Amino acid sequence: MAAMNENAVIQGYGQGRLNRDGIRIHDPEDFEGMRVAGRLAAQILDRVVPLVTPGVATIELDSAIHDMIREAGAKSATVGYKGYRHASCISINHVVCHGIPSEKRLREGDILNIDVTVIVDGWYGDTSRMYVAGKPSRKAERLIDITHDCLMEGIAAVRPGNTFGDIGAAIQRHAEGHRCSVVRDFCGHGIGRVFHSAPNVLHYGRPGTGPVLEPGMFFTIEPMINIGRAETKILDDDWTAVTRDRSLSAQFEHAVGVTEDGCEIFTLSPAGLFHPTWARD
Ligand code: MF3
Ligand code: CO
Ligand code: CO
Repeated sequence: MAAMNENAVIQGYGQGRLNRDGIRIHDPEDFEGMRVAGRLAAQILDRVVPLVTPGVATIELDSAIHDMIREAGAKSATVGYKGYRHASCISINHVVCHGIPSEKRLREGDILNIDVTVIVDGWYGDTSRMYVAGKPSRKAERLIDITHDCLMEGIAAVRPGNTFGDIGAAIQRHAEGHRCSVVRDFCGHGIGRVFHSAPNVLHYGRPGTGPVLEPGMFFTIEPMINIGRAETKILDDDWTAVTRDRSLSAQFEHAVGVTEDGCEIFTLSPAGLFHPTWARD
């Protein structure tokens, strides 16, 4: 996810246009590029499911992911991005996002987010979801459910005429209604032929505020939800974001495109494995 206020560098587009809010309106034929890239990213996350077990090192998961990306003839968007060196971010338990794959081994009951972004024919496919190593605690499973539902509530608010504030408000209402908190320090982002572009997609907000959604906008929604307080801090590696109170955090991410009557989700799981314990979406 983009750090707050990250400015978009928009380049390399032959099509589409920027609207008054500086948000790119893509052409109908651009949806197909996003579909292909989004599907590959989601397929890779599906193939990781059987690899996530107690005892596996997160660097092993990352190298399997990098192999799958290369094998598909695609590129990792994160290798070399701002000095990042891996094909995934793997964020365990109280890590909010941008966890760096390492020799650290998963333990029974760990919950983790794996976030992958691929580039196919210049289009970016960005998605993340939660995994469990063995059997999670009841409170961890509840957090995963709430966070998944936050994403889906946000997506349900995506339609022309609604605003980005409507998306954030729907997510915030669901999270806080279940006594969880919404991370403010990271947000979703425009996506397309660039990794991160305008707008910042906030996961909290007031209905009716912010830019109006228009068909042809492509962006991610990727709420990070904590059991405890919302505050985060960055570790000394300059990447890993953790909850300040060390409470558990979860995240799900889809990339979507606004259509005439709603939205298309580009990163649906082909195998129906998006939610780690439902195994049906
Ligand atoms: N995929 C992340 C996102 O959702 C960005 C990761 S950037 C990295 O926007 F460098 F940390 F990998
Ligand atoms: Co993202
Ligand atoms: Co991502």
